[in-house]
Amino acid sequence: MIRYNPFNPQQPARPDFFVGREPEITEFEKHLSQTIHGSPMNMAITGNKGMGKTSVLMKFEDIGRRNECLTLRLSNYDGNVKNIVDFTDYITANLKREILSRKPVGKKIENMKDWIDTLKPTIGWKDARLTVERQQVVQEMFRERLARLWNETKEEYKAILLLIDEAESLESVEGILTFLREVLQRISTEQKYMVVLAGKLNFPERMSESFSPLNRFFPSSRLAPFNEDEVRSYIIRKLATVDVGIDDDVLQRIAKRCEGHPYVLVAMCYLLFDSLEEKETHLTEGILHRSEEKINARLAQDFFSPMYRPLTPRAKEILLKIASNIKGLEFTFNEAVEWTEKPKNFVSPYFKELLRKGVLNKPERGRYQIFHTLFLEYLKKVAEEGNQKSR
Ligand SMILES: Nc1ncnc2c1ncn2[C@@H]1O[C@H](COP(=O)(O)OP(=O)(O)O)[C@@H](O)[C@H]1O
Ligand SMILES: [Mg+2]
Repeated sequence: MIRYNPFNPQQPARPDFFVGREPEITEFEKHLSQTIHGSPMNMAITGNKGMGKTSVLMKFEDIGRRNECLTLRLSNYDGNVKNIVDFTDYITANLKREILSRKPVGKKIENMKDWIDTLKPTIGWKDARLTVERQQVVQEMFRERLARLWNETKEEYKAILLLIDEAESLESVEGILTFLREVLQRISTEQKYMVVLAGKLNFPERMSESFSPLNRFFPSSRLAPFNEDEVRSYIIRKLATVDVGIDDDVLQRIAKRCEGHPYVLVAMCYLLFDSLEEKETHLTEGILHRSEEKINARLAQDFFSPMYRPLTPRAKEILLKIASNIKGLEFTFNEAVEWTEKPKNFVSPYFKELLRKGVLNKPERGRYQIFHTLFLEYLKKVAEEGNQKSR
């Protein structure tokens, strides 16, 4: 029988094996309590790929349910939401489904059917650009629907919690987030809705907009890497479920190498565990050593290459130049300009691309950072192979 691997980099964290994120959870609980007491507050979670956004939302979902909220987690819009009308239909349809699936059988179900029939689809309003008047009508209808949905559920629930994952795909449809804000602002007190956006969001990053309405309405937290204690506690808790031990040195080495990046951590642990022979029940330096190559190869294949390949050719070129010249992970814009031997205004748009795609981080103005050391090592390899080919 093949041994069960407790690590799974393809799945978000289960709430019972969740580590860290205390500040985000505290903020969420505060806002939820505000909402339940009739003073709704919303929030946003941002972070690069694999930083744990979906995991945090699942944790919030768990907390929401425990607090008797009707809780709905949405994602995978897959191009289904191309405009505001699609968006309102999508939200309403999913809320309806959730309410129906949670109603005790027989209870008020007839009643439910009646009012659900009154939530008419809004086909015919799908013009890409709605006129201001039409937008107002759509807003009015959406507000009405939300009000009805609340009135039909308020006996059983303390609030309605909407957790919107991969919200960057909604952000890219012009006006949706602003529309959502306007609707929520108008329904506020009597109807207890709370929205959490999660995704690689752009609005919190734009400095000039730090005090924009969206930022005030969806105050955002950027997910940080785990600290060493969090990494340790995660690994130890997981290994305890399968009675496998681990040397302290190995824990330390993993914590260092993964740099607290949640996906990299889980992927490393998965592969390390995978290298255990049938009889082995303890993770040692030796096992770490023998799995190192496999770990690097698989991270490249599953995580780094899918980030690198979709970049535009120029962005790739610039990134490889940086990777070949950099010392450590950090560099300045001016250094990059020097290394690429290109004018500033040539390099600048590609920096935007690299930031948007999560390949670079920007810890402060003018300073940049390759997002992970293992990614830098991957880039160096790519650059080297490129040089060999061109020679
Ligand atoms: N707080 C956490 N506790 C334990 N594991 C986590 C946590 N956050 C993320 N992970 C793990 O990291 C990986 C990536 O997390 P995920 O939530 O899918 O990231 P994102 O949605 O930002 O891409 C998953 O394998 C998940 O299990
Ligand atoms: Mg996710």
